[in-house]
Amino acid sequence: DRVEYYRYKGISLPSHLATEDMDAIQDFAVRDDDVFIITYPKSGTAWLQRIVSLLHNDGDVSKTELKDLDELVPYFEQKCGDSVPFRELPEAPSPRPIKSHFQFFLAPLQLQQGKGKVIYVARNPKDLAVSYYHFHFLAPRLKTPTSWEQFLQDFVNGEVYYGAWHQHVLGWWQQRDNPNVLFLRYEDLHKNTKKQVEKVAEFLQWPVTPEVVEKVVELSKFQKMATDPTTNKVEGKQGKAGVFDSSKGTFFRKGIVGDWKSHFSDEQGQWFDTFYHDKLEPTGLQFEFE
Ligand code: PPS
Repeated sequence: DRVEYYRYKGISLPSHLATEDMDAIQDFAVRDDDVFIITYPKSGTAWLQRIVSLLHNDGDVSKTELKDLDELVPYFEQKCGDSVPFRELPEAPSPRPIKSHFQFFLAPLQLQQGKGKVIYVARNPKDLAVSYYHFHFLAPRLKTPTSWEQFLQDFVNGEVYYGAWHQHVLGWWQQRDNPNVLFLRYEDLHKNTKKQVEKVAEFLQWPVTPEVVEKVVELSKFQKMATDPTTNKVEGKQGKAGVFDSSKGTFFRKGIVGDWKSHFSDEQGQWFDTFYHDKLEPTGLQFEFE
């Protein structure tokens, strides 16, 4: 396994990044109407990319289907072909929907200071660990895990791509009352997608009709996204980088709450619960996933 990560302030990041990129990212000129979708990987990023890009186009797929999801909502810090979106976005028209996996303190300073908008999506750590584990076999930029047990250890210790989940989620949770941050949960998207779509539209101050909301809900369903080449990230309409090899698995794996039950032993579950209970309990952040 020859995969290497770039280490920055103790966090493993995309290997192509360097100090000057991190400096340029901190200095990135944010616009008031920018929409950053920020997540720890495997938390519902693609789901939000889909919801935001559909809302942006009034639920009209004839507009969104001209491009892949990662073109409609570029992955800020990830190399795509010869370019990295944060270098090209200064040329892009407003409003700019952008995806990023950065922790709060790695984000552009203007974003940290309240300029632009952030939709943060969090997912319970047990299902997330399972999803992330499988994704490591699919994504060539990630180190192939030696075993589930080893992966769990690395995950809890923050020795994985994008670092410790609890630091990520808690850094953004502390910003939840900032008017430019909307904090969502994957589990709530499952429970009532419509309500969350309405929340997103209201937060972005993008006027929507009930018909558009209904369309967005319908078109962002797991089954729809999994079978559409512009959204499933495997086939890829334009065959661009960031598209995965379908012989290695699928990006739209299960898309459910509670898949952790088929992976965690009792012992692993107890150890994991205790670790995260200690981290989350004092902060008030909770997830429903039993
Ligand atoms: S990434 O690589 O960070 O962008 O991945 P991300 O999109 O955050 O997470 C992928 C997981 O989210 C599930 N997913 C969905 N679930 C329900 N509905 C919709 N529309 C949806 N879109 C993506 C996807 O299946 C991955 O979870 P798992 O548990 O692995 O299936």
